Amino acid sequence: MSFPILSIRKLNTVFHTPSGDVNALRDLSLEVERGEVLAIVGESGSGKSTLGFSILRLIDSPGEIVSGSITYHDKDGDVSILDLSLPKLREFRWVNISMIFQSAMNVLNPVARIERQFIDTFEAHNLGGDYQARIEKYLQIAGLGKQVKKMYPHELSGGMKQRVSIALALSCEPSVLIADEPTTALDVVVQKEILSSIIKIKEELNLTVMFITHDLSVASSIADRLAIFYAGRPVEVGSAEKLLKSPQHPYTAMLLSSMISLNTNRDAFLKTMGGTPPDLRKPIQGCSFMSRCPLAEPACGTYDLSPGKSYGEGYVECIHPGRMAREVEAVD
Ligand SMILES: Nc1ncnc2c1ncn2[C@@H]1O[C@H](COP(=O)(O)OP(=O)(O)OP(=O)(O)O)[C@@H](O)[C@H]1O
Ligand SMILES: [Mg+2]
Repeated sequence: MSFPILSIRKLNTVFHTPSGDVNALRDLSLEVERGEVLAIVGESGSGKSTLGFSILRLIDSPGEIVSGSITYHDKDGDVSILDLSLPKLREFRWVNISMIFQSAMNVLNPVARIERQFIDTFEAHNLGGDYQARIEKYLQIAGLGKQVKKMYPHELSGGMKQRVSIALALSCEPSVLIADEPTTALDVVVQKEILSSIIKIKEELNLTVMFITHDLSVASSIADRLAIFYAGRPVEVGSAEKLLKSPQHPYTAMLLSSMISLNTNRDAFLKTMGGTPPDLRKPIQGCSFMSRCPLAEPACGTYDLSPGKSYGEGYVECIHPGRMAREVEAVD
């Protein structure tokens, strides 16, 4: 049974650049289940941040959401995010869905005490109650002492600033948290601490988390399900356990191989998958991974991605699902 909190259908987000339109999200469909940690995994430029920004309608010029739908399944009914008026959107954001930004540490206003940054957010949403108590509560949830609220950003370490941005993102008590590479800029020890606080917070607050990362090992340590992104679409979606045990898409197999240490045969086999992702300014026919895939054949170029495919239990965008993983095993 599936209980989505977010349903994204055929979403197209484009950046209009002088050298052409970059199709950053291409007919992307994805379901986010209530209460899960869904990791969005993919290399740089695959559209991970663009998805987060699109969900919150934070795509600014030169970007534009050109088509598709994003539905938030509220307890009181469905909200079509792309149809919200601006005032309604402002009410909706942060209270229902919030985001920790990839450059979160730079989001804090350098000349304002931490508490001011919380209060501005609360005032913008007309939240009632005891602001100071609320600030202390979320600082504590994010692993910080209450003395932090009187401090300025420059008095905090990178890890502490990241915790402040987590506390800020949670302080309006959203149902969905989009965490965009929240640990990348931090050292490994702090990364681990932040990840375990996110898991703890998720349990405590009954959150749904979309966790964006380029690192499959980080994703697999935190996620219930994985959505593997390539060139503006998920090419494989499934339970983390299943996907790591038997990757169905060749690209997933490749990511997996770079994560675990492998014997030389296997490494050599997978090296044939060098190269770069396709140019998103040009139309892509069929499978976007074709140019890097050792199993590519003419049929991949005409592979039809358009029919509405099931993203519920699992999904793979390949005409030979599982074959890559089997061939890698055969090389061993
Ligand atoms: N403001 C912008 N103007 C032009 N192109 C953009 C802009 N923002 C994103 N893009 C393009 O959209 C595509 C998707 O970018 P996006 O930032 O979503 O990738 P990402 O998966 O988050 O990458 P990273 O891992 O580097 O953060 C890329 O081709 C990128 O160059
Ligand atoms: Mg990004």
